[in-house]
Amino acid sequence: MITIDNLHKSFGRQPVLSGVTLSFDRPGIYAILGPNGSGKTTLIKSILGMAIPDKGQILFQGKDIRGQWHYRRQIDYLPQIARFPDNLRVSELLAMIEDIREEKPQAMGRLIELFGLQPYLDKRLGNLSGGTRQKVNLVQAFMYDSPVIILDEPTNGLDPVALIRLKGLLHEEKEKGKLLLATTHIMNFVEEMADEVVFLLEGHIHFKGSLDSLKRQYNETSLERAIARILQGEPGFSANGHIKQAVRLAVRR
Ligand SMILES: Nc1ncnc2c1ncn2[C@@H]1O[C@H](COP(=O)(O)OP(=O)(O)OP(=O)(O)O)[C@@H](O)[C@H]1O
Ligand SMILES: [Mg+2]
Repeated sequence: MITIDNLHKSFGRQPVLSGVTLSFDRPGIYAILGPNGSGKTTLIKSILGMAIPDKGQILFQGKDIRGQWHYRRQIDYLPQIARFPDNLRVSELLAMIEDIREEKPQAMGRLIELFGLQPYLDKRLGNLSGGTRQKVNLVQAFMYDSPVIILDEPTNGLDPVALIRLKGLLHEEKEKGKLLLATTHIMNFVEEMADEVVFLLEGHIHFKGSLDSLKRQYNETSLERAIARILQGEPGFSANGHIKQAVRLAVRR
């Protein structure tokens, strides 16, 4: 569905992506993980054509996205920070998106109900709480039935009830055979929702695979601890890793 080959992106002199090669071939929920500033949003924006890579190639359904825009109609997107004019009312924003897409949204009413947004439809965006704004953003991200959904920090600011609703929604979309990419720093969310994780660090993909294989590789039972091992630069759990570990312990003694 999406193939990324040797992607490089720098901002000025700062390299952010330094040869990212990655593919999402099967439907399911993929968590894109990595510390703050590791390039998750930059990677997402590159897929959407909002950041132009310095080098490398991105294929969407087998076609190079360079100079293309039509493919984006097949992607629903929740930005990490959605900046809409504060004086717009919620209903006006949703109508504006409908206007831009020139397409009737399939699920808007249901989503408004799901996130309890009826009382806020006439309120201005600037007067909403952070979590309520995020719910509005989620409605606009899910109201079309696109085969690919990209969510940059979807859990941001949500209360527990909204979080449960979001998880239900993600399950439903996955069951429809969609590809879902989501960044998050909430490890519980990843454990519960993700089929696979991608770990981005220092411009490279340090791991891609299932949660179980990540834990096995780092010989940890918790995701948080396995990730801490990646961040500490510890080797994975392999025959070679075993030997290195033994040598390290011997040296320490
Ligand atoms: N438009 C830009 N101009 C200059 N630097 C940028 C720009 N966008 C991102 N960066 C820099 O690129 C690096 C990666 O940023 P990015 O937003 O992709 O990180 P992230 O992994 O999404 O982080 P977070 O977990 O905080 O959301 C950061 O150092 C950031 O300051
Ligand atoms: Mg980000």
